[in-house]
Amino acid sequence: MTKPPLTLTPDEMRRAGYAVIDRIVDHVATLKDQSPWGAGEIPAPNPFDAPPPQKGVAFDEVMARLDRDFFPHNLRVDHPLFYGFIPSPSNFIGVLADALASGFNIFGGTWIGGSASAEMERAAFNWVREAFGFPGAAFGLFTSGGSAANVIALAVARHAKLTGDMATARLYASSETHSSLERGARILGFKPEQYRKIAVDDDLKVDLAALKSAIEEDRRNGLQPIAIIANAGTTNTGAVDPLNEIAALCEREAIWMHVDGAYGAGAAFSARGRRALAGIERADSVSFDAHKWLFQPFEIGGVIVRDGKTLHEAFNVSASYLRDTKTLGRGVNFGEHGIQLTRSARALKFWMTFQIFGAEEIARAIETGFEMAEAAEAAVRKLPHWRVISPASMGILAFRAAPEGWSDEAADRLNAAIAARSRAEGRDMVVTTELKGRVALRICPINPRLSKSDIEGTIGRLDEAAQAAMSQLNADQPG
Ligand SMILES: Cc1ncc(COP(=O)(O)O)c(C=O)c1O
Repeated sequence: MTKPPLTLTPDEMRRAGYAVIDRIVDHVATLKDQSPWGAGEIPAPNPFDAPPPQKGVAFDEVMARLDRDFFPHNLRVDHPLFYGFIPSPSNFIGVLADALASGFNIFGGTWIGGSASAEMERAAFNWVREAFGFPGAAFGLFTSGGSAANVIALAVARHAKLTGDMATARLYASSETHSSLERGARILGFKPEQYRKIAVDDDLKVDLAALKSAIEEDRRNGLQPIAIIANAGTTNTGAVDPLNEIAALCEREAIWMHVDGAYGAGAAFSARGRRALAGIERADSVSFDAHKWLFQPFEIGGVIVRDGKTLHEAFNVSASYLRDTKTLGRGVNFGEHGIQLTRSARALKFWMTFQIFGAEEIARAIETGFEMAEAAEAAVRKLPHWRVISPASMGILAFRAAPEGWSDEAADRLNAAIAARSRAEGRDMVVTTELKGRVALRICPINPRLSKSDIEGTIGRLDEAAQAAMSQLNADQPG
């Protein structure tokens, strides 16, 4: 008997599934023995660059190819010593939940498509609402990530605040704000001059006086300030803008306050994070990323809007072919609240992780991130030749080798050389950034599997790399 297309027998499915689980478990269990850089870039020529096979290939053969060509050649963003960019220290329950959401192929766009999925997402957003101190009328949804969450928030802000000609609208954000906001503004049709980048103070937080005077200037010129974007942990340094002051300004000026918490707002699920983010409860909208500091595998971000019905108003569009979702649905259609109609049951991984580990363990895992950045700062401060450029803030530290007598430019080269040596050694994943015009190393040690001795080991190795790079650069100096 011939099988229907694209099917496997139950035994074949189980065998393939166990082989997949074995791969994932081996990956997770051996992470510490791997390099956070993985096995390096994929070698040329591109091994995938071939027409699709006309006849299917055996599962084991395909997996063997992936073992060779695919899995090794990606960064290990879930490795404890992965400090670059923003790590994604995911958890195994989240991974399994993704497999379940995908295996059952749950449609999370309408209530009738997945009433349990919709109710789970609503329940999960009650937790989010409480973590941020938002009122009962708030409403939010999970998104693919922070970028999507930020675009949704800007669209709601425009819907709520814009009157008349869109060309007169103005958005304000510090120069340290994540590029996804500027891109989001562009996607929504704002011109570059409508997105005003405000200077930052020495702590790389928005300069309130500059923000106020930009708004006054725009008002004088007949323009409409519609939204201020405040940071709850910038990507570069974890800077938190003065949320209470910005909230007061927004209230006084009737401007929308959006908090980009894609990096930091997840920390509000811990007592320490809530203290660090005081004032977030006054925002009109907050974005956050569960695939960062809430330990989920990609892709899950979220956005919550204080007055939930404006989110619906901004995104709801009727369509005749969806009329039964309105007449039969007894609950929320999440697809009417954002960009995606078809969307998976992202809430499942978030909800399952809280069920299995509990809110206390998650809070503890978040607080580890604060402590590891502080431990790294303490270790750096003990070393000669090093300077802290931006103290530990929301789990991020920036620092730089700056030996006495070295010019700023020479120290820039030195720090780039330290990062290159560290990369060549492969034990730690550290990248450089530019702060106040100078090259610095930046680490984001939020993986809860990281220990104080791990982080001290990393700083020690960076110092060794600095010593070697200093000798090398000194030797290269002419004369
Ligand atoms: C502060 C901040 N905002 C927005 C984003 C964009 O989020 P995503 O990469 O999930 O789209 C990031 C990503 O690192 C971020 O750090």
